[in-house]
Amino acid sequence: MAADASLPDKTDRLAFDGVLVLGAGLAGLSAALAAAPRRALVISAEPLGEGCSSAWAQGGVAVAMGADDSVALHAQDTVAAGAGLVQPDRAALLTGEGPDAVAALLALGAAFDTDADGRLVQSLEAAHSRARVARVKGDQAGRAIMQAVIAAVDAAPTVTVWSGARARRLLQDRDGRVRGALIAHQGRLIAVTASAVVLATGGVGGLFSETTTPAAVRGEGLGLAAQAGAVITDAEFVQFHPTAMDFGVDPAPLATEALRGEGAVLVDAAGRPFMRDHDPRGELAPRDIVARAIHRQRLTGGGAFLDCRAAVGDHFPDEFPGVFAACRTHGLDPRVSPIPVAPAAHYHMGGVETDAWGAASLPGLFAAGECASTGVHGANRLASNSLLEAAVFGRRAGHAAAAFADPGTAPVACEPAPDLPDAALAELRRTLSREAGVERDAEGLGRALALIEVLAKAHGEAPTLTAARLIVSGALARRESRGAHFRRDFPQLAAHPQQTRSRIQPATPVEA
Ligand code: SIN
Repeated sequence: MAADASLPDKTDRLAFDGVLVLGAGLAGLSAALAAAPRRALVISAEPLGEGCSSAWAQGGVAVAMGADDSVALHAQDTVAAGAGLVQPDRAALLTGEGPDAVAALLALGAAFDTDADGRLVQSLEAAHSRARVARVKGDQAGRAIMQAVIAAVDAAPTVTVWSGARARRLLQDRDGRVRGALIAHQGRLIAVTASAVVLATGGVGGLFSETTTPAAVRGEGLGLAAQAGAVITDAEFVQFHPTAMDFGVDPAPLATEALRGEGAVLVDAAGRPFMRDHDPRGELAPRDIVARAIHRQRLTGGGAFLDCRAAVGDHFPDEFPGVFAACRTHGLDPRVSPIPVAPAAHYHMGGVETDAWGAASLPGLFAAGECASTGVHGANRLASNSLLEAAVFGRRAGHAAAAFADPGTAPVACEPAPDLPDAALAELRRTLSREAGVERDAEGLGRALALIEVLAKAHGEAPTLTAARLIVSGALARRESRGAHFRRDFPQLAAHPQQTRSRIQPATPVEA
């Protein structure tokens, strides 16, 4: 590699002979393992298994392995949920590689629930035409899968992990190729050059004041990629989970959709079921419809509660230990009382546009997991397709990044991206939840955009602000309602589904 004289003097340098993986959820660790025999350096803000949404996932992995199911049916449901914006070939790839991905996780020791004959027990979730969600002890899938994958990473001689580390800028050569990243680690700033970078930094939930994801997951990776000039697709599509538990805590604990799959009912404060007023599919209507119904219930003062007493009752501690524990922590016994619920930002369908192997529009950059837009989620992700996507596309991105030929060029000078102070972040989060939440309109989105500009002027273009601007300006530009994006002022579906693709150059969004 050519020596680089242009980085600031205070910056240490490391030429890493392998793949640099930013993020340590299921997608990042899957990519790091798949890069073998090439080496992988994983950058994780927290100790492995903490601070990533994967470990918090309650649902499970959607996979067509039941006797009455097929990969084609799973793909069909995935395409239908995505409201016209799923790429059918990618859905086929995701669902087709699902059984192998689950077999690989089983082989690593993820103990999915099985029946007496050793077959996977699979549950029903909204918008699935078959019971196909493989679970672990009811609501423990994310934690169990991450434990198994972390054990594999610990044992892998090719993988090194820096925890307590954070990417502060993508390094690029003069032609825009991604050459590594500026990493803050142990009080130092280190310019790590690598043959390829896999971005697996998770979603944007932490940009909203009501979220089910770890607060630190707030679109930084997306913002860094956008600032480097990567094409971002469909940033406006943020999925709001209908049943975050409303105990007034941040982040909000989740009451998994599997509870509704088991027959739990949404009721108002008087105990009256209300979902059939909104959709004949009731509690198992697609997630966006249930989220909007609950949102309106709350706006009109009716209240919204998940009544699990008849459907789960005394089995709660065994069947949904995570939800049960969260309720008990907040003084509620779900065997006796309905759980207060509210929609909360849960998953980002949009992200860094990739091909089927996770390659982004910038050479040397790959993306996988929630920060990526791989074409499988469209406007509305099908429940429990996210862990599946992280496993399938994480592996693909790891393989492709490992095979990417290092151009050997030097990165140009760069400074770490600015950070948003806590008070400004809190204001941004409140504003996005209010103005870019379950229901949106031009006026509110305009207010959100104005705040983003004020904050950028005051504090610099923090990656979180870039991510927020992409979401809000995408939502403003999409003058229709589709999937998880609902415009009060444009409630109809446009006749021809279109993706939003944007590329920032360097600070002004332009059409790609
Ligand atoms: C849930 O368990 O309800 C969440 C699963 C998912 O987001 O796919």
